[in-house]
Amino acid sequence: HDHLITSKQLSREDIETVLDHASEIDADPSSVAGRHAETLLGLLFFEPSTRTKMSFETAMKRLGGDIVDMGPVDSSSVKKGETLADTVRVIEGYADALVVRHPKQGAATMASEFVDVPLLNAGDGAGHHPTQTMLDLYTIRENAGLDDLTIGIMGDLKYGRTVHSLAYALTNFETQQHFISPESLQLPREVVYDLHQQQDGAGIREHDSLEEILPSLDVLYVTRIQRERFPDENEYQKIAGEYQIDADTLEAASDDLTIMHPLPRVDEIAPEIDETDHAAYFEQAHNGVPVRMALLDLLLSDDKGIRGEADE
Ligand code: CP
Repeated sequence: HDHLITSKQLSREDIETVLDHASEIDADPSSVAGRHAETLLGLLFFEPSTRTKMSFETAMKRLGGDIVDMGPVDSSSVKKGETLADTVRVIEGYADALVVRHPKQGAATMASEFVDVPLLNAGDGAGHHPTQTMLDLYTIRENAGLDDLTIGIMGDLKYGRTVHSLAYALTNFETQQHFISPESLQLPREVVYDLHQQQDGAGIREHDSLEEILPSLDVLYVTRIQRERFPDENEYQKIAGEYQIDADTLEAASDDLTIMHPLPRVDEIAPEIDETDHAAYFEQAHNGVPVRMALLDLLLSDDKGIRGEADE
């Protein structure tokens, strides 16, 4: 069975297979209703979640299946010291696929080595969040198109796992990626190195200010500063509140600019932007359902699958 651990493993063809299927489902949800009756999806969330967890649950139920949920860490046997490896080995006996979110980078890769059912990474620390990337790509394709795209990705690029997964996936397309952050929250150097390997370096630029690049952007992807990942609260306080956007910021933007955010937001996007044509972040969150329905349908159907490459 396929696992989905990072977006590095995905080709353009894999991505388009998922997005095209999500479009079909979006246009006619009844086309897949009941297709996975009797199927159980195991949810293992070792970190908080609203969107990822609930949209996976919605997606599985809309496909006719159901979920089994480990529930909060505090009420599970994780509290008694059970390892992640043992936990996934037990729950694969209850469920047909597993969704795992964990605070440790690399946790999903490790967990996938202990199970035979498909395992989907729903976020591993500051590592990856590939199913978020699929709904991000879907939203970009709907609003701006995925080729000839100029995108700005702003905020916490160091700890932001949605950013890491999105940046890798975008190298499959004709994109100019502009990364905007304080120096202390730049993309990890190994990610920049990898991106240069995957795409002609001309497609990748780093900036410390949005101002110089904003007018040229088709999409601005804003992220939350990941306070919970800072080893030192003082370091967080030094940059908290920077890199926010409001109506004044957008005076220099194209009328067609699409603003995205994986959510939850804290104060990065002023609420006054929500009612403008720029705002796509709630649509983006809603796209989580058809996109995760498409992913689950492909991963749970023996004749489909989403990729030909070996597991990472
Ligand atoms: N975007 C995202 O992963 O949101 P949740 O943390 O609420 O799942």
